[in-house]
Amino acid sequence: MHNTTLVGDPVPHAIALNGISKRYGPVTALHPTDLSVERGEFLTLLGPSGSGKTTLLNLIAGATGPTTGTILFDASDITRMPPRERGIGMVFQNYALMPHMSVFDNVAYPLRVRHQPAKAIRAKVTEALERVGLRGFENRKPRQLSGGQQQRVGIARCIVYSPAIIMMDEPLGALDKNLREQMQGEIKRLHKDLGTTLIYVTHDQEEALNMSDRICLMNMGQVAQLGTPDELYFQPRSRFVAEFIGESNLIAGRVISGSRMGISEGISIEAGQVSQVRD
Ligand SMILES: Nc1ncnc2c1ncn2[C@@H]1O[C@H](COP(=O)(O)OP(=O)(O)OP(=O)(O)O)[C@@H](O)[C@H]1O
Ligand SMILES: [Mg+2]
Repeated sequence: MHNTTLVGDPVPHAIALNGISKRYGPVTALHPTDLSVERGEFLTLLGPSGSGKTTLLNLIAGATGPTTGTILFDASDITRMPPRERGIGMVFQNYALMPHMSVFDNVAYPLRVRHQPAKAIRAKVTEALERVGLRGFENRKPRQLSGGQQQRVGIARCIVYSPAIIMMDEPLGALDKNLREQMQGEIKRLHKDLGTTLIYVTHDQEEALNMSDRICLMNMGQVAQLGTPDELYFQPRSRFVAEFIGESNLIAGRVISGSRMGISEGISIEAGQVSQVRD
């Protein structure tokens, strides 16, 4: 197993957002939001296009400043801290690899900009590539890799300096279904091995349900519901949540036997008479 510490601060952070919001002129990308992410948690931001997921990531990463509110990592207010100092590793949907650089140099890049010695860089890059199953690919260029392999390079580049927080913005969006499922498993395993706080963005509800400790479902720049996959699936707080999370949740009818929670035990529904979603 890979239990050695790579570099940097190995202690994962807890994150607290207090009244954080973002306006772009007349557009409110994010309404004032409170959100706590636990240390080492796998939290997924789920929601339709334009609901504010990337905005929330950018605020935590410091790529953009908030209109209102504060951000804490553990007990420290980092609202105004420059992005580079926040210890966040980012994985992007489009990989964002440097095309002219080899796999090795792409993964080494975050260490080189932090002026790490060459020997340490070699050891850490080797370990990061090992973790994502890409040993032996060091000298290839991104264009000589498949989409899944390119995304693994993106993940290796993110974890190579042991960020205290990892954020992934739709990292599997460009991959086909089989590879997506395989990579979902690998990202879960990686999170378990590293113990890092991980914020994951997707608009795929199944992916969110499979991978997350908790899901933050967003809609129109607001949190529609925050909870475990089971809570969102079985106890949706609104029609929006029910419709977004499970196609089978919304039935115009009334439960006449069995319980709403006990779908696996069998449930009978008298259809057509009642318009309420929940009893
Ligand atoms: N720089 C900007 N200037 C103006 N409006 C912006 C800017 N960035 C984002 N927005 C708006 O803020 C809202 C939220 O955008 P955001 O990128 O956070 O959505 P998202 O949930 O990540 O969507 P997607 O799933 O399509 O990536 C959108 O209405 C978007 O048009
Ligand atoms: Mg986005």
